[in-house]
Amino acid sequence: MRIPFVDLKAQYATIKGEIDETINAVVESTQFIGGERLATFEKNFADYTEARYGVGCSSGTSAIHLALCALGIGKGDEVITACNTFIATTEGITHSGAKTVFVDVIDDTQNIDPERIEAAITPRTRAIIPVHLYGQPALMDPIRDIASRHGLKIIADAAQSHGAEYKGSRRETLGDITTYSFYPGKNLGAYGDAGMVMTDDSELADRMRLLANHGRYDKYSHIEEGYNYRLDTLQAAILDVKLRHLDRWTEKRRSHAVRYAEAFTDESIRPVQENPHCKSVYHLYVVRLTDRDRAMEALGSRSIATGVHYPVPLHLQKAYEYLGYSEGAFPNAEKATREILSLPMFAELTNEMVDEVITALKEAVG
Ligand SMILES: Cc1ncc(COP(=O)(O)O)c(C=O)c1O
Repeated sequence: MRIPFVDLKAQYATIKGEIDETINAVVESTQFIGGERLATFEKNFADYTEARYGVGCSSGTSAIHLALCALGIGKGDEVITACNTFIATTEGITHSGAKTVFVDVIDDTQNIDPERIEAAITPRTRAIIPVHLYGQPALMDPIRDIASRHGLKIIADAAQSHGAEYKGSRRETLGDITTYSFYPGKNLGAYGDAGMVMTDDSELADRMRLLANHGRYDKYSHIEEGYNYRLDTLQAAILDVKLRHLDRWTEKRRSHAVRYAEAFTDESIRPVQENPHCKSVYHLYVVRLTDRDRAMEALGSRSIATGVHYPVPLHLQKAYEYLGYSEGAFPNAEKATREILSLPMFAELTNEMVDEVITALKEAVG
């Protein structure tokens, strides 16, 4: 049986009627930028995340950049984040003019280690970007505590964690600004690039809306230069349809995660752990293996697709050579990089498929 890593076609098949109808309606309306459908999705997704305001963006990457710009963070400033995230997190920092400062992660969850944040703070630090990696929120209480003691802003990168909970609530996962990606393979995925920024602060929301739309307050009146970071209406309408199904899809993901976890009981296959305060939405299901590359190859030869998120931590990427980090700087993330393997994870997986992955992986490491 061929088992893909994600199967967007299988998902589409379950909602084809609603999606096709919505796409047709948007095309018929010819309202491709702005309008009611965009406003409705912004409101619905804000309600979903328990934030007060949502401003649609062109991607999760532009969302992060927009958040930093709106907070006035730029040249001469430093922003702290985890070294094992996708490069979009730190591109946003660099594009704002600020400098990225990396910290290591907690070994068993692979999320930023709050105990290491404080040592990375300097007089130039302005913000912390916790990344809710793999769908699991970072430990927000200690991060909030550090931020408030040092007067720092929190931008939560929630690109992978739509609907995740910290201490029993979605709201508790939010930062001063929270950024989402709706990249097609995400738990809530568009049919192209899309993202959103969330905040409870009406001034910040207004500022992000202005900056995302060329700094304009009417058609040709520009307070300042901004960006074209808008979320287009077709994507918003598609996302609004899919949002209705998201909780059901998340429950499926969680049940697959339980099935995997119950099967991986010995030391040879060690799942990344869910912290007791966190409810992960399992964007990715990641296990740690002594010989990851061999297992990956063995699964591949049985037509089971897997991934590595991420194979090289950012501080060791060529793009960040100029920051001057060397190997050994962040041992937890570096060790994990050699061991992690992401297994197939999407709502439409069947129990039979999950069992086949389990059997194949056990045989590969046995
Ligand atoms: C942690 C993280 N941050 C940011 C992004 C950027 O999102 P996008 O691809 O929508 O620009 C992604 C995903 O691609 C991500 O996984």
